[in-house]
Amino acid sequence: MWVGREPLDPDERPSVAHSRWWSANAADYLAEHGDVLGEADFVWGPEGLDESEAEILGDPSKLRGSRILEIGAGAAQCSRYLAGLGARVVATDVSLGMLAEAASINASALAKAPLVAADGLRLPFADGSFDVVFTSFGVVPFVEDLEALFAGVARVLAPGGVFAYSAPHPVRWMFPDSPTKRDMTVTTSYFSSDPYVERGDDGELVYVECHHTLSEHMNALTTAGFAIERVWEPEWPEGREVVWGGWGPERSPWIPGTLIVRAKRKCQ
Ligand SMILES: C[S@@+](CC[C@H](N)C(=O)[O-])C[C@H]1O[C@@H](n2cnc3c(N)ncnc32)[C@H](O)[C@@H]1O
Repeated sequence: MWVGREPLDPDERPSVAHSRWWSANAADYLAEHGDVLGEADFVWGPEGLDESEAEILGDPSKLRGSRILEIGAGAAQCSRYLAGLGARVVATDVSLGMLAEAASINASALAKAPLVAADGLRLPFADGSFDVVFTSFGVVPFVEDLEALFAGVARVLAPGGVFAYSAPHPVRWMFPDSPTKRDMTVTTSYFSSDPYVERGDDGELVYVECHHTLSEHMNALTTAGFAIERVWEPEWPEGREVVWGGWGPERSPWIPGTLIVRAKRKCQ
């Protein structure tokens, strides 16, 4: 296995690698993080910011009947929460393994999330067919071309529709993926855009994580026709003991971990 940061070849398809990686690791991922994610709960990141309190998608009572698309839904916990509010939700993911976990949770859940296999970069839905598109840590960190991703989201949103997403805060990129205070020294330039890459011994792409600076996030949204409404950088709550990759009570009070953006598709 080779691990490092390097540009991808133009013909390499991270979506294919992610479909495989997330399927192979779906059960372990949920065994590790399932308690934090819940089954029909909507958390925006390891800080535990909960949609029922933050209302980033808006007043919950107004979501009843809304057409909502989740991209990179994983086991679809957030979609199940929205289905419970009466939203007409569809949960999508590129990984069949993650969708199988979602189906298995659906089986015993009161509010179920309809599931569709889809690459966030190639959404198989008609123009203007949703009022809200969102993701909590899905798709965004895994694609190089944010403009292409956001343009596809804008296409399936009705004019005036809301797009909200959370992703690793760009500042995290500079530090090792470790939760300890020891690892608060900058090791990578904020401006280095080479993705984090894992390759098998045959050189095949196994896993990719991409970095987008704050201005890249903002500019890709405006280029795709969005007006940015609000940005959140949740603080680590005092006393929260959860450790999740580079997030945890030692380091996260010092370094922002999660970026959340709410934007509106402009009406032409
Ligand atoms: C960290 S999980 C986020 C899902 C869920 N909110 C959670 O916290 O577990 C990332 C998800 O993004 C999905 N993903 C990665 N690249 C994708 C792509 N190009 N299109 C759709 N889903 C993708 C993965 O399969 C995975 O289920």
